[in-house]
Order: sequence, then structure tokens, then C-alpha cells
Amino acid sequence: MAYYQHPLDVTALPTWKALQEHRASLQSFSMREAFNKDAQRFDHLSLSSCGLFLDYSKNLITLETRDLLVSLAKECGLEQAIRAQFDGEPINASEARPALHTALRRPIGDTVMVNGSDVMPEVQRVLHRMTELVGRVHDGLWRGYSEKPITDVVNIGIGGSFLGPQLVSEALLPFAQRGVRCHYLANIDGSSFHELAAKLRAETTLFIVSSKSFSTLETLKNAQAARSWYLAQGGSEAELYRHFIAVSSNTQAAVAFGIHEENVFPMWDWVGGRYSLWSAIGLPIAMSIGMSNFKELLSGAYSMDEHFQSAPFEQNMPVLLALLGIWYGNFWGAQSQAILPYDHYLRNITKHLQQLDMESNGKSVLQDGQPVACATGPVIWGGVGCNGQHAYHQLLHQGTQLIPADFIVPVVSYNPVADHHQWLYANCLSQSQALMLGKTREEAETELRSQGLSEAEVQRLAPHKVIPGNRPSNTLVLERISPRRLGSLVAMYEHKVFAQSAIWGINAFDQWGVELGKDLGKSVYSRLVGSDTKPAEDASTQGLIEFFRGRHRG
Ligand code: F6P
Repeated sequence: MAYYQHPLDVTALPTWKALQEHRASLQSFSMREAFNKDAQRFDHLSLSSCGLFLDYSKNLITLETRDLLVSLAKECGLEQAIRAQFDGEPINASEARPALHTALRRPIGDTVMVNGSDVMPEVQRVLHRMTELVGRVHDGLWRGYSEKPITDVVNIGIGGSFLGPQLVSEALLPFAQRGVRCHYLANIDGSSFHELAAKLRAETTLFIVSSKSFSTLETLKNAQAARSWYLAQGGSEAELYRHFIAVSSNTQAAVAFGIHEENVFPMWDWVGGRYSLWSAIGLPIAMSIGMSNFKELLSGAYSMDEHFQSAPFEQNMPVLLALLGIWYGNFWGAQSQAILPYDHYLRNITKHLQQLDMESNGKSVLQDGQPVACATGPVIWGGVGCNGQHAYHQLLHQGTQLIPADFIVPVVSYNPVADHHQWLYANCLSQSQALMLGKTREEAETELRSQGLSEAEVQRLAPHKVIPGNRPSNTLVLERISPRRLGSLVAMYEHKVFAQSAIWGINAFDQWGVELGKDLGKSVYSRLVGSDTKPAEDASTQGLIEFFRGRHRG
């Protein structure tokens, strides 16, 4: 049974039916008209919290829409679900675990009980160990086998053991310090290792093998490759401990790899991989920006945790974003959500949010195993602006799909160049405005006539220049990207994802769907290398295996 009172079939709720009727009543809703009618629309549909400003006025909603969506959230037990999450209930029902990534950013002195014991002392101990390690590396006290200080830190990890740390260390590059360069090795493709190794010297490189399970193929293969490379470069087995540390919940496997136990930073099973950058998985972040900035990141996330738990839903950023996603996904047929950061340093946020959202809410059964009664997680995609305007914004403006977009933009740039930031900011706002305003047939014709075209040309071209408009977007404005504000931003999306899962009644914290591909990969591999001569289960796979083997034969 769900850990909170969830109706199971949300579509049977009176409010769900009211939302369906409300949706029908908005068939001819026009954002242009809504803004013209209500001079307060922007004020009514925007809010600030934790250093973030959310403008959600460019949406296909009225105040009644928001009220109905808030009612839906309450009827689905979201208030109880939030309480259960922060109280450490086993909300990851299929694995009978809590989801307590929020414990990682709570202040010293708080208590968080898991299985009858307070986990906060251990959380603080790990933070202290991270502080010591980062300090020793930054102060040149951690020496490699040739007694030189560390100049490069390589995080070997994939998924949640890579994407969150990569996002944060890139987004906070202006805070990088002390000459320690951070690198990320994730994919098993030998080219990624080859490209990286070319930049490194084994004697001054520290590898962090980040793997909660310490059983992920890509990570273990890359760790082995790094170990072989280290030895080939002149490192010895005896000194290996100076160049390899680990972050894992599987200490035994890390020690078996050859990492000294005192160099294994623990993770806990109540922290999901895609929610783990706040743990020792965040070591590469701290190596890059320092522990005091890492702690600022944590406190930014904590402030968003407090907002999420205390703000009334109609003034609650993560809840509003969650409800808008449900409005478009479940009542307007939207199947994807675009994330459009207008900031070079935030360019990889979409990759992290893809795992956070799609690995959490890409589910089709409820917590109790029954099939869901409605659509669940969307496809998350996007990329950095202004580049996207010259790549996929055409579809956003004139395509046949409804794709809600989140624009994210800082007011202040760390690297002002002439009036570039003004243009970047102007483009971010104008894209959101164009999605909303569109261009009518009449406006298109007027524009073409003003260019002196013949009436025949005007009539020929006008249909191609019409832009439907009335397409929704949110705009998140940060004064500037700082550790604290980035922590709030990432935590906001974590809570948005969780709130949606709670309303849909699904488990945001397991990922059984990734197991099959991993298992089949092993049998395909054994056929590729010939250790298994049985043909594959299907002709396609077998044919492709034979294509590979034919190329590699002889
Ligand atoms: O994709 C499956 C997954 O388990 C993710 O949830 C996780 O972040 C990633 O693989 C890496 O797992 P680990 O940290 O155990 O190596």
C-alpha cells in the first residue's frame, strides 16, 4: 500500500474530472488576451524563493486552474507524502527504503532517524572526512608516488555518480580554485579514456571511483583501465592507494579493488544515485570549488527543502512546477518538457535533469504494483540558449506538438563581454514571448506587405510565416549562478519530480527498468567474444553479432 493515503486511480477523483472539464473550457484560451485582461497576471503568477524568481504567467492557466491543480495535489495526499519523505518513511516501497537525500544537507544538530538510529552523526563524519581530504589535496599535502602534489582529479562514475557532480562543477567553474583540475570519465567507450589519459600524468592524478554499488560495468572497466594505465606510467601496486580512492556503499568491493578502507567514503542505501551529489559522490565538486562552497551548495538545497515543506502549494515553487507538468502531460497531451538554460556554465543541467526526472518517473506501475491509470513522466530534453534557437526552436514555434519549456537565466554574467549578456537575456525573454504571442495571419500579411511584396507573394508566403503562439513556458531567473542558488535550483527540481511521483502514485526512487538491458548485454558480449556459441534469441541481434565478429575475425 502507498505510504500515504493515495487514491490509486487519480483519474476517478472528482477534481480530476473537474480539471478535464476545465481543460475543455480553455479550448479557446488565449494567453495574449489573458494578459490584456489582467494587468496583474504577471504579479499573480510569479514568486520568489531561495534566491530564485519563477515567472509562470506564460502558461495556459487561470487562477481557477491553479486552484484545481492544488486541490488535486491535496486529494492525492501530497502533504502526507512530503511529510513521509522528510521523516524517513520507506517511500521507495519496492526496495523498502527511505529516500533521504535531504538529510545530507540538514544543519548540524538535526536528527534524522533511519531504522531506529540517527544518521546525522555519520553524515557529518563523512563531510568532515571530505573536508580533510580536499584540504590535503588543495594544500599539496596529498602526494603521489613520486612525492608530487595532485594536479588532476578524475571521477570515474556514470549516471548519478557522474551527471550531478559534472553539472555542479561545470556550473560553478567561476568558483574553481587552487589549480586542481577535475575530469569525468563515465562511458565505457575506450575513446573517452584515451582522450582523457592524454591530458594526465599518473604521478599527479587522483582517481575517485564513484559507484554506489561498486558493480557497474562501465565504472569497473574504467577503473581497471585507469589502474593499468597508472601501472604502465610507472606507478606501483604498493603506491596505488595514493592515486585511487572510492565512494561507495560497497566498501568490501572497493577494498578488493585495492583501495585502502580509510580511503573509501561511504554512501547509504537511503540515498538514490540520481539524488546523491550532496553526498561524498560530490567529492569532485568539492575538489573543484572547495568545501566551503560545497557547503554553500548544501545550504541552498536546504533552504529549498524548507520552502518545499512549508510554503502553501499555491506559493510553492516545486509543487507549482510539478502541477504545471501534470496539467500539460495529463490534460493537454504533452509528452516532453524542454529545459533551456541561457547560461554557458549551466549547459549540462539538462543531462542531469534527464536522469533525475526520467529515471525517477519513467514508470508505469503504482507503488503497490498495479498499472497506472494515467500518463506519467515526460521526456526531458533541451540545451543551452541561444544555441537552441538555431537548432530546435523552430519545432517549438511552428511544430505540431505542445512542448512546455523551462527557461533558466541569470541576471548577472561572470564574464561580461561588451553587451553580450544583455543580448543573451533579451533572447531568453523573447523566445518565451514568441512562444506565447505567436504571429497571426493578419500580422504576417501586414509584415510581408510592408516589405513591398506583391499581393500574390504575400498570399503565398503568409501561411509559412504564421506562428501559432499560445505555447507555455516558465522562466526561472537567478541573480547569478552561485553555489547557494544552484543548490536551491537543483533541489527544486528534485522536489518537483518527487511531487509528481506522489500525485501519480508511483515510486520515484527505484529503477528496475535498467536491469534487463544490463543482463542481455552480458549474453551479447559473450557471443561477440565467442565464449558462448549459442545463437542469440532473435535474428536481428544474431545478425548484428555476426556482422561484428566478421569484422573482427582473423
Ligand atoms: O542507471 C542505473 C544506475 O543504477 C543509476 O541509477 C545510477 O546512478 C547508475 O546506474 C550508477 O550506479 P552506481 O553508482 O552504483 O555505479
